[in-house]
Amino acid sequence: MPVPAKLIDLLDTDQVPDPESVSIDTGYVDLLPQSELRDATARHQSLSQRTMEFPLLAPIYEHLWRPAGVLAFMGFNVKHFRTERDKTVRALGLQPGSTVIDVACGPGNFTSRFAEAVSPDGVAVGVDVSVPMLRRAVRTNRHPNAVYVRADGTQLPFGDGVFDAASCYAALYLIPEPFRVVDELIRLVRPGGRISIMTSRASRYPVIKAGQKRILGATGLRMFELTDFTDYFQAQGLTDISREVYGVVQYVHATKPSN
Ligand SMILES: C[S@@+](CC[C@H](N)C(=O)[O-])C[C@H]1O[C@@H](n2cnc3c(N)ncnc32)[C@H](O)[C@@H]1O
Repeated sequence: MPVPAKLIDLLDTDQVPDPESVSIDTGYVDLLPQSELRDATARHQSLSQRTMEFPLLAPIYEHLWRPAGVLAFMGFNVKHFRTERDKTVRALGLQPGSTVIDVACGPGNFTSRFAEAVSPDGVAVGVDVSVPMLRRAVRTNRHPNAVYVRADGTQLPFGDGVFDAASCYAALYLIPEPFRVVDELIRLVRPGGRISIMTSRASRYPVIKAGQKRILGATGLRMFELTDFTDYFQAQGLTDISREVYGVVQYVHATKPSN
């Protein structure tokens, strides 16, 4: 099966000089190079990140693990949880024809919703490092306008400014170098394009914050300050920065300025 033409247009030809030769018999496009990057990615994984590679997690992630875990983190705000995907489509400004990248897509639970929003002629690219998650995405969140890719969020094989929008949900707190992923989101969107992230927020209370740091920190989960991403986006020159907070979860949305 050939790599979809929709994807080829978005790739960085320096990183992927011969995309037609890549096999997608698995249903996803594996662009994590066989060599050093694959080894380095595996070596630097935190315990929480390695959990995402566990084959038994992928089948239960979307309908059990995420509702139980993330909903609790959101302070059991069921109304928000139910509307989260639609809100994200709006935050990213997705329209028919848009190109969007969903970094750390897991089993494609957001990618498939993005694909609906950009249909009939746009493309939603879901990227993850985990083979079990991508296998699940291909099985349960397949969509004619969705393409799943195996790649590392800290070094994405796409050209500068090729996407109208980029997201990274429920993953920055697992990744040892989260701001490298954020830099990639900024690089990948065109001027005027939208970025949306969802991540953790440390407690306001010092005693709880210290406990979070000790217990969650041991597993590789990181709790971010409320201003970590808003300040970073501001420093990178992004505009229209907004934040929503639910429990210990924060969403930050921003626009890359037009040249
Ligand atoms: C908790 S899931 C999030 C899935 C989905 N975005 C959501 O909001 O439900 C986190 C995902 O991040 C992926 N991940 C972790 N490190 C990554 C990296 N360096 N590059 C790409 N994906 C990564 C994991 O494999 C896992 O599928």
